[in-house]
Amino acid sequence: MSCFSAADESAHYGFSVCVLLQQYRAALGWERDGVVELGTGDATAIADVVAGMPALRVRGYDISQSSVDAARANIAARGVADRYTVEVGDFFDQADSTGGAGTPTVISNPPYIPAPDRDILMPELWGGVRGNDLLLQLLKAGYDNVIAAVASYSDPVTTIRTAGDLGYRVANFLAMGLDYGPYSNEPKVREHIRGLCAAGHGWAGESGYLVAVTLMTRNPDVPGDRADQLLRALQCDPSSSGWQRGQAPSP
Ligand SMILES: C[S@@+](CC[C@H](N)C(=O)[O-])C[C@H]1O[C@@H](n2cnc3c(N)ncnc32)[C@H](O)[C@@H]1O
Repeated sequence: MSCFSAADESAHYGFSVCVLLQQYRAALGWERDGVVELGTGDATAIADVVAGMPALRVRGYDISQSSVDAARANIAARGVADRYTVEVGDFFDQADSTGGAGTPTVISNPPYIPAPDRDILMPELWGGVRGNDLLLQLLKAGYDNVIAAVASYSDPVTTIRTAGDLGYRVANFLAMGLDYGPYSNEPKVREHIRGLCAAGHGWAGESGYLVAVTLMTRNPDVPGDRADQLLRALQCDPSSSGWQRGQAPSP
């Protein structure tokens, strides 16, 4: 097993998580409850956030043993091992991964590579045929607050529609353009992304795509809903798939 490596994407994830946690500090209550993380990778992104936020505690999980080994070394090097722990294993197999065990907030840059099957450069990054399988699973896991990366080519309209059906609102997001990296540039994956976008399941340009680190919440103390703004930022039509906020999804 290899370890995920994409410096610009990880930096965007870490910075955005930091901004969203700070902005919604009181309502999210992470100083009291901590947060959990699906897919720690080498931990550099969030270890720097933990180092800069003395009240933050993170329990991370990664399915890749080599990622967890790298993560533990990076966390120790930053001196935050007492507040950032990482376990090896499937996040969804953890006893407390259901959001019901006192940790209402989950953070994640989840696997989102869309491909016809798992036989890709780094199989741990496979997000299913449309790329959003793990994010959909996370939305169904029962957390009140989900801070997660949403990629423009991984069927974001279905993701945000499903989030709405589950009672989540898009409180806020930070979007950034990313060049195709080694994982999305793999010919089999690029071809699949082209097909998905042509069929209306997302957006990607010739040289890159967009990722929005998004706070989806069911917390009444966090006001507003920027779902339409998010989808427009990702170059997607909020009304595609026949859906608009407040309407039942089309069959
Ligand atoms: C896109 S990488 C993000 C890594 C890191 N958070 C970052 O942004 O630099 C996704 C990570 O999720 C891990 N992963 C995939 N499926 C998982 C699962 N079911 N449970 C826990 N981790 C998983 C992968 O091994 C990979 O390290």
